[in-house]
Amino acid sequence: MTSMPPGTAHTVRRAICPGSFDPVTNGHLDIIGRAADLYDELIVAVFVNQSKSSLFSVDERRELLEEATAPYGNVRIASFEGLVVDYCKANDIAVIVKGLRAVSDFDYELQMAQMNRGLAGVDTLFMPTNPEYSFLASSLVKEIAKWGGDVSRLVPQNVLKRLNERASASK
Ligand code: PNS
Repeated sequence: MTSMPPGTAHTVRRAICPGSFDPVTNGHLDIIGRAADLYDELIVAVFVNQSKSSLFSVDERRELLEEATAPYGNVRIASFEGLVVDYCKANDIAVIVKGLRAVSDFDYELQMAQMNRGLAGVDTLFMPTNPEYSFLASSLVKEIAKWGGDVSRLVPQNVLKRLNERASASK
C-alpha cells in the first residue's frame, strides 16, 4: 500500500477550537474568525467538564456561540466530553487551533500541544490574539458583570444581554 504524501491525508481541511466558552468573548471570536478563514470547516467545541462549575450550561454556551458565529458560514458548534484528540479522530479533524494571549499562556499550551501530538498525532496551531484582547478572559468578564461593571466592549451583544439578565436575577 502506498502511503499518502504529507499534507494530503485529510480531504476536507477541518480544524477545531476547543474551550470552555463560559461565555464566549470577543477574544474568542477574533480567533474563531481568523481560523475560519484558514480552514474549510471550523468546529468550535464546548468541552463538557463535569468537575468545573460554570455560569452557563453547555446548551446555553452552545446557543450563545451559534448566535455569535452566525456570520461565519463554515463554523459549526459542537460539544464533547473526554479527550479532544479522541473527538478529532472521530470527526476527521486534523488541527487544534488555540489563541495565545501572552507568554504566560504558552507553557501550558505547549505542554498540551505536545501531549496531543504524542497521543494521536494531532497538531496544534497557535494564533496570537489581537493585542486589544490580550487581557481578556471569560472568568474576568463574569466577575466584572456580576458586580455591574461594563463589559460591553469585551463580549458580543447576545452575551452582554444574557450576563445582564443573570446579574439582575441575582439581585
Ligand atoms: O477554555 P479553556 O477552559 O481554557 O479550555 C481548555 C480545553 C477545554 C481546551 C482543554 O482543557 C482541553 O482540551 N480539554 C479536553 C480534555 C483533554 O483532551 N485533555 C488533555 C489535554 S493534553
